[in-house]
Amino acid sequence: MTTYKLALIPGDGIGKDVTGAAWQVLQAAAKRGGFALDGTSFPWSCAYYLETGAMMPPDGIEILRKFDAIYLGAVGWPAEVPDSVSLHGLLLPIRKGFTQYANIRPHRLLPGVQGPLRSDGFDILCIRENTEGEYSGAGGRVHSGTANEVAIETAIFTRAGVERIMRFGFEQARARRKKLASVTKSNAQKHSMVFWDEVTREIAKDYPDVEVSHYHIDAMAARMVLAPESLDVIVASNLFGDILTDIGAAIQGGLGYAASANINPDRSAPSMFEPVHGSAPDIAHLGVANPIAAIWSGAMMLEHLGERHAAAEVMSAIESVTAQGIGTIAGKDRTETITRAVLAALS
Ligand code: IPM
Ligand code: MN
Repeated sequence: MTTYKLALIPGDGIGKDVTGAAWQVLQAAAKRGGFALDGTSFPWSCAYYLETGAMMPPDGIEILRKFDAIYLGAVGWPAEVPDSVSLHGLLLPIRKGFTQYANIRPHRLLPGVQGPLRSDGFDILCIRENTEGEYSGAGGRVHSGTANEVAIETAIFTRAGVERIMRFGFEQARARRKKLASVTKSNAQKHSMVFWDEVTREIAKDYPDVEVSHYHIDAMAARMVLAPESLDVIVASNLFGDILTDIGAAIQGGLGYAASANINPDRSAPSMFEPVHGSAPDIAHLGVANPIAAIWSGAMMLEHLGERHAAAEVMSAIESVTAQGIGTIAGKDRTETITRAVLAALS
């Protein structure tokens, strides 16, 4: 029997609630599919930071490297640890350290879920560059605390980095409706974003079957609200992709449905799967977090591991549950109720 070794990092807040719920679903799917998921749980989180002074041990990345995939809940407890510390101590080093350069986020309405828009026929795949750009961390502060203080945060775009995310995007578009929208702000940012456009045009030559459009981030933000059905694959830089995928989550009914995969396409290191929603301290441990985004992210993990049938079974279980009106209204159903319904739909 194939056994997959998974690193589980529930993290903070509702990260713990939803990963616990989703793990039951993934185990049930594995049982049905005739494979095994061998999970090792790591307590790395803000609580761990308060105890040890670090979000993960110094060899954390090396510890994770030997797993087939990483399944993460959420990172952040800003009341006790600044987000800039917790995220740069755990989530962002994993994305960068394992060259998980493609952050994939699907945005579509599950059956029975009422989005805020008139349009309900959209199916968007956002692909966000996940290792460089505005999140490179290059910069610094000088003359701290004085009237002359300067803060610089430089976005870094490399040819290798833009080429590989673009190729990845074109491959995804090719497997879907063959439309790719590249997002920049090249009318205002004349170095990096003009470079991005140039690289996009070069790579596009290898994909003549894919229709390419170029949007500025502001226009794309409007388009996702006004005409989401016109979009297929979107490729954007790290920060632009971050912003657009919260719009994507909003139009698909809320963060409770937004799944994501941080993929290392070369498979030279593990990929990581996590819901987009974050730790939501206000509703942590009340048993009311919607586990659907986490379960959907789990299905993306099964797909990545090569268990396509099991992944499809989990997706149809989620869809049959939302079609029955379970987990479709914020706060109506408890985490456990939704989880039990998904487990029942799976069997
Ligand atoms: C996300 C989150 C993170 C990001 C934060 C928590 C650093 O917003 O995954 O979308 O900006 O990447
Ligand atoms: Mn975000």
